[in-house]
Amino acid sequence: MKTALGDIEIVSHLGADERTLAFDVLDGLTKPFKEIPPKHFYDTEGSRLFEAITKLPEYYPTRTERAILAANADALVESTGMAELVELGSGVPTKTLVLLDAMRDAGTLDRYVPFDVSEVVLTESAKMLVERYAGLRVYGIVGDFERHLSALPPAEGPRVIVFLGGTIGNFPPGARRRFLRTLHDALGEDGYLLLGTDLVKDPAVLEAAYDDAQGVTAEFNRNVLHVLNRELGADFDPAAFEHVAFYDRDHEWIEMRLRARSRQVVRIAGLDLTVRFAAREEMRTEISAKFTPRRLEADLRAGGLRTVERWTDPDGLFAVTLAARHGG
Ligand code: SAH
Ligand code: TRP
Repeated sequence: MKTALGDIEIVSHLGADERTLAFDVLDGLTKPFKEIPPKHFYDTEGSRLFEAITKLPEYYPTRTERAILAANADALVESTGMAELVELGSGVPTKTLVLLDAMRDAGTLDRYVPFDVSEVVLTESAKMLVERYAGLRVYGIVGDFERHLSALPPAEGPRVIVFLGGTIGNFPPGARRRFLRTLHDALGEDGYLLLGTDLVKDPAVLEAAYDDAQGVTAEFNRNVLHVLNRELGADFDPAAFEHVAFYDRDHEWIEMRLRARSRQVVRIAGLDLTVRFAAREEMRTEISAKFTPRRLEADLRAGGLRTVERWTDPDGLFAVTLAARHGG
């Protein structure tokens, strides 16, 4: 599919016969320890709830990362000469404005290439951006960055691929390194990667960020059950599941789960499948890895990448790393 609206072009790689959700759910809910991969959180309601999370007092990553970008955007644009910003998991690109502003002010801004599974959010942000930046070209890609990275158009100028919000932490460690290797290949000879990562810190601070007092994160977590009900004709009672978030100190990640409050028998018509949950049985819905500089280095190295520069906030909560190919 292609849509052209002025300087906006949007291509979709999620075909009508897309069976990923069905496969993921069939796989995940028949495992000995049930799980659902996190990309299925983000339907329109899920994207709205995530946007609300980013504004919560407990959720420090968004505002901290924005401050780091604001303090260093000019230096970043100067050292990379970036004319093209490719953004993976772009969502609502509020933090991206800081980078695009700096590119405009330096006179390098040419093209923005957002890549997200959420078509609605992608289209809305594209429209907002071409209004804000005169002459900006937007090439949006609706797809799964784990499967459709080859859909990235060839670079037409100095390119930086940005991956913010700590979303890299949502991959388990092995998949994370494989993904970094794929990014290495997508960078070309002289591209850069700008990577946002949440850092290891006091578990109480971490747990509050994923279990806020207003319960927005709990709603976001349960939203995946609404997605399954709608898309796969399931009959989950979302209220029968409680939100669980805890910091795993050995793995250094936050784990999000949904716990059945009582015994549940769920029918998933679209998969011709019945799934049983014992009382208090838990299902994993996401991990969010927290990094030490050392582990970040090891992961980048495993992906064939090297650190060019790393910026953090004064309290050392979050890091933004500019990386390039090894030997490049
Ligand atoms: N970059 C924004 C949003 C982060 S939330 C920020 O930093 O605040 C994660 C984003 O990645 C969401 O917009 C979600 O729709 C998208 N996403 C999650 N998994 C994805 C996948 N497999 N492929 C493409 N986009 C994905
Ligand atoms: N990438 C975000 C993170 O790991 C996603 C996120 C934030 C999230 N809060 C959540 C995912 C709550 C599931 C549930 O910080």
